[in-house]
Amino acid sequence: MSEIYRASTTAPVNIAVIKYWGKRDPKLNLPTNSSLSVTLSQNDLRTHTTASCSPSYPSEDTLLLNGSPQDVSGARTQACFRELRALRKELEDKDGSLPKLSSYPLKIVSENNFPTAAGLASSAAGFAALVRAIANLYELPASPTDLSRIARQGSGSACRSLFGGYVGWEQGTAQDGSDSVAFQVAPASHWPNMRAIILVVSAAKKGVSSTTGMQTTVATSSLFSARANETVPRRMKEMQEAVQNKDFESFAKTTMVDSNSFHATCLDTYPPIFYLNDVSRAAIKVVEAINAAAGKIIAAYTFDAGPNAVIYYLEENEKDVAGLFKVALGEKEGWAVQRGEAVQANSAALDKV
Ligand code: ADP
Ligand code: DP6
Ligand code: CO
Repeated sequence: MSEIYRASTTAPVNIAVIKYWGKRDPKLNLPTNSSLSVTLSQNDLRTHTTASCSPSYPSEDTLLLNGSPQDVSGARTQACFRELRALRKELEDKDGSLPKLSSYPLKIVSENNFPTAAGLASSAAGFAALVRAIANLYELPASPTDLSRIARQGSGSACRSLFGGYVGWEQGTAQDGSDSVAFQVAPASHWPNMRAIILVVSAAKKGVSSTTGMQTTVATSSLFSARANETVPRRMKEMQEAVQNKDFESFAKTTMVDSNSFHATCLDTYPPIFYLNDVSRAAIKVVEAINAAAGKIIAAYTFDAGPNAVIYYLEENEKDVAGLFKVALGEKEGWAVQRGEAVQANSAALDKV
């Protein structure tokens, strides 16, 4: 019986407040614009992944997601495996006494404790966890920046889940993608009273995947280039300033208009992509009502590529935001205020188990 090597990890989801939408290089997964997100606490939504390898495993690499075998032959998963193996091989070449893990088949077993492919960033937590688990298994000395470069190739948004707190993804200019990596704008402790509630409108798999949707937008939308080249670069600066200054009104306003802008380019895609539904639009109205009642902006909505709403607010406004949502939503079928937790640093995600 041969030995089995194993390592596990968890990774958080991140929800962008400046959205990534568009690839300038689909092969390397390089974006047409920079983006910025908040990493959510792993107490609620998280991926748990175990990576193992053994000379006794059947020759193919395998990935089991929520109990179902996945196709790992796709270029994006292959790129992650290849890059991580190459880093392990470097170590093995330097130190001949190390076991040759890079030559063994990999078995990945992953569980998401929240809806997969429903616009709640499962690909972000999923690929961050996959990359981190294999890096742990291979005992790589790679930094979160290095791992973000690899995770980006699995799913763009995944690069941001390697960091906690407020996280940017610099689009970069290098053709090989070497400078298209995530960076921490501020740790969670900088603005610790930030909260998010997630309204699960539908846990169903989205009709158009993020990958397909954004490529169709780039190819067909006439609004897209203004968003990528003018609007987003300006808002990236505003958003980083808002985070640095802990200016919630500015953070919230920019979050909402960027979500609207992203969904406008989806509608402007041909054929059009509808990620929001009537319930999503009702959530926008509730946020508007909350802000109108407060006389200032105390809540911000944002929607990824799906109908589920994420509402950001500050802890001191918990009653006025989360409380009101529960009242408003309680009356409607199809609403579930599923999770609401502090936004935290995800350093635990990076620990080897
Ligand atoms: P989402 O809005 O949930 O990120 P995407 O369309 O971007 O939806 O990506 C969904 C895909 O991400 C899934 O079909 C699957 O291929 C991949 N994925 C999700 N979770 C994991 C995971 N834990 N491990 C590996 N891949 C995952
Ligand atoms: C709307 O990272 O899922 O959530 O790189 O093709 O896997 P791929 O796409 P993905 O796209 C996320 C789009 C978004 C915005 C964001 O998270 O920035
Ligand atoms: Co995704």
